[in-house]
Amino acid sequence: MKHLQETLQELAALPNDRPMGMPGVFYTSQEYYEHETRTVLRSGWHCLGREDEIPNTGDYFTAQLLNEPLLVVRGDDGNVRVLANVCRHRGMPLAEGRGNANRFVCSYHAWTYGHDGTLLRAPRMQNAGFDTKNCRLPKHKSQLWNGFIYVTLDADEPNFEHPELDALLAPYETASFRLVHVAEEDWKTNWKCLVENFMEGYHLSVVHPQTLHGYTPTGLSRKLINGLDYTSYAANYPEDIDARGDGAQGLSEAERKRSTLFAKFPTQVASQAASLLVSLSLFPINADLVRVKWTMSVYQDNLDDDTIAQRIALWSEVNREDREKLEKMQVALGSAHATSGPLAGDDYEGTIRDFQVWLAKRDTALTSV
Ligand code: FES
Ligand SMILES: [Fe+2]
Repeated sequence: MKHLQETLQELAALPNDRPMGMPGVFYTSQEYYEHETRTVLRSGWHCLGREDEIPNTGDYFTAQLLNEPLLVVRGDDGNVRVLANVCRHRGMPLAEGRGNANRFVCSYHAWTYGHDGTLLRAPRMQNAGFDTKNCRLPKHKSQLWNGFIYVTLDADEPNFEHPELDALLAPYETASFRLVHVAEEDWKTNWKCLVENFMEGYHLSVVHPQTLHGYTPTGLSRKLINGLDYTSYAANYPEDIDARGDGAQGLSEAERKRSTLFAKFPTQVASQAASLLVSLSLFPINADLVRVKWTMSVYQDNLDDDTIAQRIALWSEVNREDREKLEKMQVALGSAHATSGPLAGDDYEGTIRDFQVWLAKRDTALTSV
């Protein structure tokens, strides 16, 4: 383990014009994965989905983040809370999937909780020492940003701010995008492979010749800003291609004619275009398995129903193309010959380098205390 931690520091310290990727063992070792669950993953801010997945009081959805079952619910006061989805009696999950509930009634012995986690009722509990007040559902630290819901499993983790990324997204009016699709699937790949894949433009023309190349060819990829816990790049459209949907009024012509891809480390990757927002939230399960929840949102009524259906089909196909590659690569990464390989320049794989540097910094910060 120590050896891998040192390797990561060495890679992150390489000169910027000589970047190298991480060797396969970083993606295949279960021991290293477990180290990540105690460090970069446990302390990170994770996107769980979009706020408008749960627009009304009592709307909820569930998620499993590492070993924590989560219940994300819109309260009576209109606020979103992320509660532990674990009954305080003997540990049953209180809800599954998504829906709307007046109260959360445990399916085991019918303890009943309110939207804020208060225990309202516990049938036949007459022990003198029992007090419902001591049995509310724990609340995880959460934050809203640009219409997304985030959680951290580390109560000491400070809230995040990144004004430059805010400025990059502001013209798109990301917060106002309207949800049209949610899907979940399990990919047999390491969670970091998926972050890297989504965030590099190098593979676009090769892996997506039919689906993406016409709009976002590799050759027009340009690195954008990176900061404390994020990176970004522009997948630009060719000159002779029209923007797809007008989007917000404040968008420049250049912003309208590109997809702005950003990663909020560790587990969110997203593509913001004028009229379409696609975001993937990754829920790592083990070294070679990750649950992917992806949402698609649109700008106001920019796209009609047929176009939305086409976009959903297109993105399903793009995801299938990426998944097929990553699942094959995951097997090969187990090879003793999957050593550190040279990365392409900033516009193509600079985002992978940013991710690596972030991983190395966090690893130092979290293991040297
Ligand atoms: S475990 Fe929930 S009421 Fe018993
Ligand atoms: Fe891809």
